[in-house]
Amino acid sequence: MPKDVILIAAVTVDGFIARHNLEITSWSKDLPLFKKQTMNHPVIMGSNTFKTLTSLLGGRDIVVVHKDDKPQEILNNIKNKQCFIIGGGKTYYKFASFLTHLYITPHPYVFGEGVRLFDVSGMCELKLKFLQLIEVDNKNGIFQYQYQVLNN
Ligand SMILES: NC(=O)c1ccc[n+]([C@@H]2O[C@H](COP(=O)([O-])OP(=O)(O)OC[C@H]3O[C@@H](n4cnc5c(N)ncnc54)[C@H](OP(=O)(O)O)[C@@H]3O)[C@@H](O)[C@H]2O)c1
Repeated sequence: MPKDVILIAAVTVDGFIARHNLEITSWSKDLPLFKKQTMNHPVIMGSNTFKTLTSLLGGRDIVVVHKDDKPQEILNNIKNKQCFIIGGGKTYYKFASFLTHLYITPHPYVFGEGVRLFDVSGMCELKLKFLQLIEVDNKNGIFQYQYQVLNN
């Protein structure tokens, strides 16, 4: 089981990660940072997200999870110290109680509806401690906020 289980996501100002379940996330400006941070680490994603990928995430072991997969078992099979949960909303929720960190990059959009970061009603509360801010695109006000999850 990895020591660090890191959720990484681009979000809108109103907390959405996509307009619909099979949207290609072309509006995200932090793909170079995403690539740098996830390189050489396993990345875990849901099957909808896998369908939206336009490149194959070279250099990273890809784990695609399905409805009946148990998050604990998936994590137990990972020997690396760090892994990333890369979406989508159903998969962020599936791993919510195992997350040690959130890397969140708000983007200047309001979708109004779509796929929420944790795409479920009745998500548990996570207590977060701010760790650091990483510049993505200063001119457009895009920064990645890194948090530690205190109650997992
Ligand atoms: N902005 C970002 O940073 C970001 C990051 C990643 C993804 N996204 C976007 O997020 C969207 C996909 O998110 P998503 O939440 O739709 O999908 P997802 O989490 O990628 O995949 C759906 C997962 O839910 C499972 N599932 C299906 N029906 C279920 C049910 N009734 N109960 C429990 N689990 C069920 C699926 O299993 P089966 O395979 O068995 O059906 C699969 O594991 C895409 O538009 C993608 O582009 C955005």
